[in-house]
Amino acid sequence: MTAAFSFRVDATDGKARTGLISTPRGDIRTPAFMPVGTAGTVKAMLPESVRATGADILLGNTYHLMLRPSAERIARLGGLHRFMNWDRPILTDSGGFQVMSLADLRKLTEEGVTFRSHVDGSRHHLSPERSMEIQRLLGSDIVMCFDECPALPADEKRVAESMRLSMRWAERSKAAFGDRPGHALFGIMQGGVTPELRAESAQKLKEIGFDGYAVGGLAVGEGQAAMFSVLDYAPGLLPADRPRYLMGVGKPDDIVGAVMRGIDMMDCVLPSRSGRTGQAWTRRGQVNIKNARHMDDPRPLDEDCTCPACRSYSRAYLHHVFRAGEIIASMLLTWHNLHYYQELMQGLREAIAAGRLDAFARAFDAQRAAGDI
Ligand code: GUN
Ligand code: ZN
Repeated sequence: MTAAFSFRVDATDGKARTGLISTPRGDIRTPAFMPVGTAGTVKAMLPESVRATGADILLGNTYHLMLRPSAERIARLGGLHRFMNWDRPILTDSGGFQVMSLADLRKLTEEGVTFRSHVDGSRHHLSPERSMEIQRLLGSDIVMCFDECPALPADEKRVAESMRLSMRWAERSKAAFGDRPGHALFGIMQGGVTPELRAESAQKLKEIGFDGYAVGGLAVGEGQAAMFSVLDYAPGLLPADRPRYLMGVGKPDDIVGAVMRGIDMMDCVLPSRSGRTGQAWTRRGQVNIKNARHMDDPRPLDEDCTCPACRSYSRAYLHHVFRAGEIIASMLLTWHNLHYYQELMQGLREAIAAGRLDAFARAFDAQRAAGDI
């Protein structure tokens, strides 16, 4: 018998929740942050190292993997988990969003989207049906509906038409996904920054019925205030007994704000990508390790951090290897950033369970405001 996919809320504090998503490949503690492993790797990290930071689940990308090395090849090699040596849950994004931001010569119709690969110019097609097939071939545990997301700012008519297309695609995604015990299908709410469109989208998704619900179409250039104004009401439009996933977010303060507004899952390239550009995130704010002021500094990046970069290396060393273009610079900074993000999530989970999330958020703000890093 295959274990089912399930979600339970263990405690709430205001709108925030902490709980557990159970899957046949393991449990996901919520609120959860999912490191991004776009092309079958969280860049600069071994999978066991990603796990050691505290991650319960990774995100993979339909778009990148279909182009290289192809979903069919990964399936022949035993699926994405075996291919990349990560046996815990994987959530895959559906491709629509990435086609719009990365692919060349896109042609969007009711049926789907044709485009040219940003890798080699080859022609490809994605539709709700093909996206479901690819995510099945990959062996994804949490499959995302195929959707479309207009870049903001966009006029309301364009946002409404795009949202309604995404809702028709959500229906086709659900039909094509079928019945797959132990695997989950999440719907994606769209509607930009317009409350009526968000409500219409949520209503449609609830009618179709999903295992979880994502808030899409945010963190696309609208700014934190506009994003929070949507998150003030959008999670409340979705079923309370299903996980709510905010896609593509965000900076540490975005994460705290989203969790306080009822979000259970998030993903972002920020901790891994900024590690490779010399940016470290700490409880006292950002550190740019490239800066010459670190050149003679024997202190660790963050005195209170227990990650390998902070336990065993000085800022002077991190500065040196970064300036020298050494691979270990990316490895150590990515590890630190992912460790910091997972520690933040653990702090949020514990604060919600103890009913002291407001105090946690105040301390989070105060430490960052104190600065001096
Ligand atoms: N990643 C960030 N935002 C989105 C979105 O709106 N849709 C999808 N599919 N992925 C995203
Ligand atoms: Zn550290």
